[in-house]
Amino acid sequence: MSDLLARHRAVMPNWLALYYNEPIEIVGGKGNRVVDASGKTYLDFFAGILTNMIGYDVPEVREAVERQLATGVVHTSTVYLLRGQVELAEKIARLSGIEDAKVFFTNSGTEANETALLLATYARRSDQVLAMRQSYHGRSFGAVGVTGNRAWKNNSLSPLNVHFLHGADRHLAQFRGMSDADYIAACVEDLRHVLATAAGGDVAALIAEPIQGVGGFTMAPDGLFAAYKEVLDAEGILFISDEVQTGWGRTGSAFFGIQDHGVTPDMMTFAKGLGNGFAVGGVVARGELMDALHATGLATFGGNPVSMAAANATLDYVLDHDLQANATRTGTLIIDGLREAAPRLPIVGDVRGKGLMFAVELVDPATGAPAPALAARFMEESRKAGLLVGKGGLYGNVLRMAPPLTLTAEEAAEGLGIVVAALETVAAEVAAP
Ligand SMILES: Cc1ncc(COP(=O)(O)O)c(C=O)c1O
Repeated sequence: MSDLLARHRAVMPNWLALYYNEPIEIVGGKGNRVVDASGKTYLDFFAGILTNMIGYDVPEVREAVERQLATGVVHTSTVYLLRGQVELAEKIARLSGIEDAKVFFTNSGTEANETALLLATYARRSDQVLAMRQSYHGRSFGAVGVTGNRAWKNNSLSPLNVHFLHGADRHLAQFRGMSDADYIAACVEDLRHVLATAAGGDVAALIAEPIQGVGGFTMAPDGLFAAYKEVLDAEGILFISDEVQTGWGRTGSAFFGIQDHGVTPDMMTFAKGLGNGFAVGGVVARGELMDALHATGLATFGGNPVSMAAANATLDYVLDHDLQANATRTGTLIIDGLREAAPRLPIVGDVRGKGLMFAVELVDPATGAPAPALAARFMEESRKAGLLVGKGGLYGNVLRMAPPLTLTAEEAAEGLGIVVAALETVAAEVAAP
């Protein structure tokens, strides 16, 4: 065991999971590659869990942060005007498509979701919330309460009364083989039934990820949330789209993931990629919802001048370079390549994704059961070949990949080659143990 790993084990929580048999320490990065402490270079298909959205050592971001540092001001607090916040809020409000939108900045996705849940429960005078099975929304009591994944839920204590919906679980036996339309109809029927049976009085909101991150990039068929929204609108139930993983053009087909469903939500939450590694989260909501709270509020570090400098520079970079289009271009190359390889790889149960957010689900070829051990084997193989990827899914058997949106076509081909080769190696081991 390395010295650093031994020290980590001594003082860090056990549940802070590390990847790889021999965990790596990343000490440098440039473009879409990182270097570990042993000097080995990796192409990064996980981007610090979708957070290094435009790669490493980006001059535009570095210079914006350095300019802010040079003023001598790292923090002032929200009792003074903050130009960076206003500028970023204007951009996000415009991009959101939400009417009369207002923005509140936080430090994380968890805090963003807490804020959205507060706005919704306050506006509706209700503690009842709908959430999706297999979801992940963060690690505070409210966010854990709406999380539908036992591996990320230590207990059921919750300030909210939560009912969980179907919609991203068409792999379940009762839905298998259904067309998109039939699955959507079954889910809507279930939503109506939940409202008729489990809910008592008014429900505040539905919170949902357009593509479930921790859930293994499982997703509802396009159109499901529009069908849900018809039912919600009839009862005045608000809709919160958690865009922490799906925002800023990552899915290629939309700037915010929910837009693929033809839905404008009442609120969206965001974090991860916006600051390209600097801590920025937030909520964009209809102005009347945002303004409705009667008590004063602030987040001390939320939207501080340094993170705002980074976030403004990152968002400008995404827009100026049309990285949404790049996500479509490079993501299609990879997803098509994975789909082409899948039929000759019996360990691959599913290939799914949109743009630069794609996943491969690994199964036991004999039984079709989730195969987390094969995912762990794949992780070691791909690491050896110089590629970082993520793992997830309800059963830990899904390889999650989300490279920086700056990925080039050559890097896409390189990464695809490594993924397919590693899958072939693992498949061969299974075939001839
Ligand atoms: C969809 C989603 N929402 C919320 C969160 C929580 O964000 P944070 O870890 O910044 O609190 C995450 C984190 O992985 C996430 O994937």
